[in-house]
Amino acid sequence: MVDLLVVRAGELVTCRTAPGGAVGEALRRLEVITDGAVAIDRGRVVAVGSTRPLRRCFPARRVLDAAGRLVSPGLIDPHSHLVFAGSRHHEYETIITGRSEPGQRLEGGIHYTVRQTRRATAARLRAQALADLDLMLTHGTTMVEIKSGYGLDVPSELKLLRVIASLRHPIDVVATFMAAHVVPPEYAARRGAYVDLVVRLLPRARRYAEYCDMWCDTAAFTEAECLRIASAAVRLGYRLKVHADQVAPTGGAELAARLGATSADHLDYISARGIRAMAARRTVGVLLPGVTYHLAEMTPRVERRRLRPPAKPHWPLLVRRMIAAGMRLALAADYNPGTSPTPSMQTVMQLAARLYRLGYAEIWHMSTINAAYALDRGDDRGSLEPGKRADLVIWRVPEHGMVINRFGVNLVDTVIKDGRLVVEDGRRIHRPA
Ligand code: NIG
Ligand code: FE
Repeated sequence: MVDLLVVRAGELVTCRTAPGGAVGEALRRLEVITDGAVAIDRGRVVAVGSTRPLRRCFPARRVLDAAGRLVSPGLIDPHSHLVFAGSRHHEYETIITGRSEPGQRLEGGIHYTVRQTRRATAARLRAQALADLDLMLTHGTTMVEIKSGYGLDVPSELKLLRVIASLRHPIDVVATFMAAHVVPPEYAARRGAYVDLVVRLLPRARRYAEYCDMWCDTAAFTEAECLRIASAAVRLGYRLKVHADQVAPTGGAELAARLGATSADHLDYISARGIRAMAARRTVGVLLPGVTYHLAEMTPRVERRRLRPPAKPHWPLLVRRMIAAGMRLALAADYNPGTSPTPSMQTVMQLAARLYRLGYAEIWHMSTINAAYALDRGDDRGSLEPGKRADLVIWRVPEHGMVINRFGVNLVDTVIKDGRLVVEDGRRIHRPA
């Protein structure tokens, strides 16, 4: 007798792959079971298959009829800056209408959010974060990574990390320490002193955070500065992530591979060498189509080191090169107020198709199993197979391609997290089920 049996899925996409995730050709081979079923017991998947044999083998305390709709693993979002205060919609209007001042920089917008976030109480940040997690959950996300990095001083970074650690929510939260986001204005003339502060904060932050992330870019930290922070972090048991090659080709991908980072994220200006290095070290490349959409050709120029602004990337070609080289790739929302103000992985999947010209199977793998590997969780989450967590979504549509083709509406009907019903008829439910 199992706890729950989900039956009659029009399509059951398992996103099951060889260990390590979907790479190269395998990205296009999505396992789809028609008239599918999932048996769940004590929060874990016991079996997947067709409805008839599973009904026969697994008498269940509760049977949920998917009634011909699509069933998939919960979406995994491996990159967000979810805890912040304020909104940057005013800044967005000046950018899209071309009224932004010449020389306006991405880090200038970040400083605005830092000012708001420093002022906000932990209680306010927490309430906002929980509301955003509810939004994510009702849009199908069951695990999210959250970075600090809008505090940029000791009390504010610790405040953010404590808020992240305090989030009790059905979504699994993975915490990342990212005081190395940008150099705050008060340290502009003493960068070295700020890097010292980040290094000194690492041991305390380790109580809350599993990963350490840094923005290696002309706008933020140099390779040497990142190396200093990363080596101190690794000694404390952190795993690493790098914001790499976002606004200019600066070797961030190569650095991430050399450091053995779990992932390097953004990668709009990744070099051929960076692609080879990441493929060889199996560093997961996390792509952020929300940023591509939101800023595209309007990404503010960053010229601290007087680099000539590079030509905009051709994203579809770039992503094809990464796939052909055998890189592991995942998608994430990068939810933040400046470059990607969407908490929805559904939207991200739709944008990945349109902006990167990825196929449906590729997108599903990159938003589930490969995204789990971007958080070192691929052996426990990201696909529906025996032994893994029972995190799954029942959609309002019958086929997996429709989630990507239809845009602008939420297609999630039901979310099951660790075997429990947490979203029903599109709404978050609080009673235990
Ligand atoms: O991931 N690259 C830097 N950090 C964020 C932007 C944050 C912001 O604009 O507030 C990013 O895009
Ligand atoms: Fe980011």
